[in-house]
Formats: sequence, structure tokens, C-alpha cells
Amino acid sequence: MQRLQISVPAQPFKYEILVGRGILSAAGREIRRRLGRQVQRLALISNKKVSNLYGPLVVESLEASGFQISSWLMGDGERYKSLKTVETALQFLSEHGIERTDGLVGLGGGVTGDLAGFAAAMYLRGISFVQIPTTLVSQVDASIGGKVGVNLSSGKNRAGAFHQPDVVIADLETLKTLPARELTAGWCECIKQGAIGSRKLFKQTVDYLSQTEGERMAVSSQLEHLIAAHGAFKASIVRADVRESPERTDPRSRRILNFGHTVGHALEELTGYRRFRHGEAVGWGMLLAGELSKNLGLLDQSELELLRAGIRLCGPLPAAEDIDVDAILSAVTRDKKRARGQVQWVLLERIGRPRMVNGKEIDVNSLRTSIRDILQKRNDE
Ligand code: NAD
Ligand code: GLY
Repeated sequence: MQRLQISVPAQPFKYEILVGRGILSAAGREIRRRLGRQVQRLALISNKKVSNLYGPLVVESLEASGFQISSWLMGDGERYKSLKTVETALQFLSEHGIERTDGLVGLGGGVTGDLAGFAAAMYLRGISFVQIPTTLVSQVDASIGGKVGVNLSSGKNRAGAFHQPDVVIADLETLKTLPARELTAGWCECIKQGAIGSRKLFKQTVDYLSQTEGERMAVSSQLEHLIAAHGAFKASIVRADVRESPERTDPRSRRILNFGHTVGHALEELTGYRRFRHGEAVGWGMLLAGELSKNLGLLDQSELELLRAGIRLCGPLPAAEDIDVDAILSAVTRDKKRARGQVQWVLLERIGRPRMVNGKEIDVNSLRTSIRDILQKRNDE
């Protein structure tokens, strides 16, 4: 098992990200070590699918460590990441007498983790929180860094908080039951982290994907090292810019994690969160950000080809050519990563070197052309 430390000087938190094989059965012991003996009760938030697969093992482990468990299942899907669901979750915590000294465990993918974390941040003004991520997206990204929240009808992740977990427990065995598209989405997030992180992380990811085709989820030490490397990368960014300072535009600011998200969020919104998995939309968003980077003279064609090849290895992306380009442009301008009325694009100078570019430096007609070209071109051509 890999134990990664995330601690931030001058911030009141320090926690470990545990990455390993078959570690769900140790969840109770690990959580007890962090929360101490005084914690009696834990609320467990999951959904029916994940709970059927892993709930009994987790509950058994938690009970063996002396916790009393109250379980609540939310709906499955992005549309349940809403204020309405949070309200129901908060009512559940209250009705089950969860107290300030108790804790909340989120078991599932990013939707469950974001929602459960937001409930933990709000309930009694904040209770202890544990992330047990069971998707690739949540193991390498969503469970780390304390961003929790929900979507509003006006856009994704518009209401939220920073509420750091006490520990993250990522068991690679859970990835074996993930459907193919969820894996594609997760690999897209890994390519994203490699593209903005370092050539080494990008290469490690691409090498893994090229060498393991067909048996990617055979849980191996190679996979464990890869997921741990991604966790360590995410932690390093969070550590340096915990609250995503709006003033920062440097290549290590937290905002670089939004590479591919400007257009990705627009695609998700315009298709009612039904057509694309989040990571698939980010896949399209990265293709567009790469093309734009090349058109602005920031990125060489050869680097763009590496990015495109990396995204191709993740798996097929749902078609997007029918989505109206002007609707994408107006969704982009509503995007929450605007600063002082301008969209902040995360573009690339080379693999491993992101660059923030203010929207006013990008001509809208060339943006329109780039979007049209990318969405109509298949990435397997
Ligand atoms: P998800 O939570 O919807 O999970 C995907 C699907 O897989 C769901 O149907 C879920 O029930 C199922 N599932 C989960 N674990 C499984 C398993 N082990 N086996 C079989 N099925 C399983 O989606 P996701 O991709 O994990 O997360 C996407 C969400 O995460 C988005 O809402 C996104 O905004 C958010 N996110 C947050 C952050 C952050 O920093 N907080 C970062 C990235 C993404
Ligand atoms: N996934 C973006 C962030 O954590 O900042």
C-alpha cells in the first residue's frame, strides 16, 4: 500500500491518501486511527450500486473498529448532485442524531464524494469526513483536495465549500467493477493530469495504457504506482494553492487542473449531463484546448499529436458534432472560471507545461472555427 501525505503549512489539516489493493477491509482501523476513540458514530453516504458491491465489506470493517453506522443512499448520477439531495442528506444526519463529534464517510465516485463532503461541511458547521473513492476519476482527482459541492441549474459545481477529508482510502480492487466508459473517463483525467503535470507523469500514464490494453484493470503494482503518482501530483497542486486563488495564473496554480474543463463543462451542460461522462467531456475539452494552444502558436504540432494520442488511448469519446457551436461559446462565457468577466483558458506550452490565457486574447472567430473543427473531427483519424 502507498501512503501519500498531504499537508499544508499554515493550514489546519494534514491527511493521508492510502492507495492499495484490498484495503477496504482495513478502512475501520485506518479511520479509527485518524478520528480517535471518542468518535462513536459514522454516517455512510453511498448509492445503491456501490453499496451493493462494497457496502457490506466497508460496514463490517467500520463496525469491527467500534463505529455505529447509519447508512443513507443517494440517487445515482450527476443530476442528484443537487441542493435538494444535500438537504435530504442533512435531514437524515439530523434524524439519526449525528453529533458534532461524529463523522461522515462518502463511499462511491465523485458525485457521491462531492455531495457527501458538502453535507459534512455544512452539517453542524462541519463534521469529520472520510473519502472512500471507488472510481478512477475520484481516486486520482475528486477525493483529494477538499473541493466539495453541488450543481445549480445555472451550472456545474456552482455551490460548494472547501472541506478536507481526514483520510482518503483508495482501494484499486473496486476499479475492477467499473464499466468501460467510467474507465475511459478516468483515464482522460489521468491524461489531463499528465499533460499539465509533467512529461514523466504523462509518459508513465501513456506507457501504462499502451502496454496493458485489454487488461488495464488487472490490479498490479504498476497500476498501484500509477494511481499513487496521480494522487501525489494532485496533492502537490492542492498543497501549493489550497483555495484556488483567483489571483494566481502560474503553471502550478490550482486552476491548471481545469485543463479541458472550459469546453468540457459546456458540453456536459448543453447535453443535460446525460450524454458525456465528466471525464469524456474533459477529453473533448483537452482536444480543443490543445488545438487552440497550437493555433495561438503556444504548442508545437508534435506535442499536440502526443496529447491526441494519449486521449485516443483512453477509449472512444461520445460524438459531439451535432452540438451547436454558438451554444458552446455562450456556455463557455458563463463558465465559473471567469475572472473579471473573462474566461480563463488553461492551455499548453508543451506536455507538462500549462499556461493560463485570458479569454480577451483569443479571437472569437478563431475559437469558433477551432471548436467546429475539433468536434467534427474524430480523434481516431
Ligand atoms: P460518478 O460518481 O457518477 O460515478 C460513475 C458511475 O460509476 C456511477 O454510476 C456510480 O454509481 C458507478 N460506480 C462508482 N464506483 C463503482 C464501482 N467501483 N464499480 C461499479 N460502478 C461504480 O462519477 P465520477 O466520474 O466518479 O465523478 C464525477 C463527478 O466528480 C462530477 O460531478 C465531477 O464534477 C466531480 N469531480 C470533482 C472533483 C473535485 O475536486 N471535487 C474533481 C473531479 C471530478
Ligand atoms: N478537480 C479540480 C480541483 O480539485 O481543483
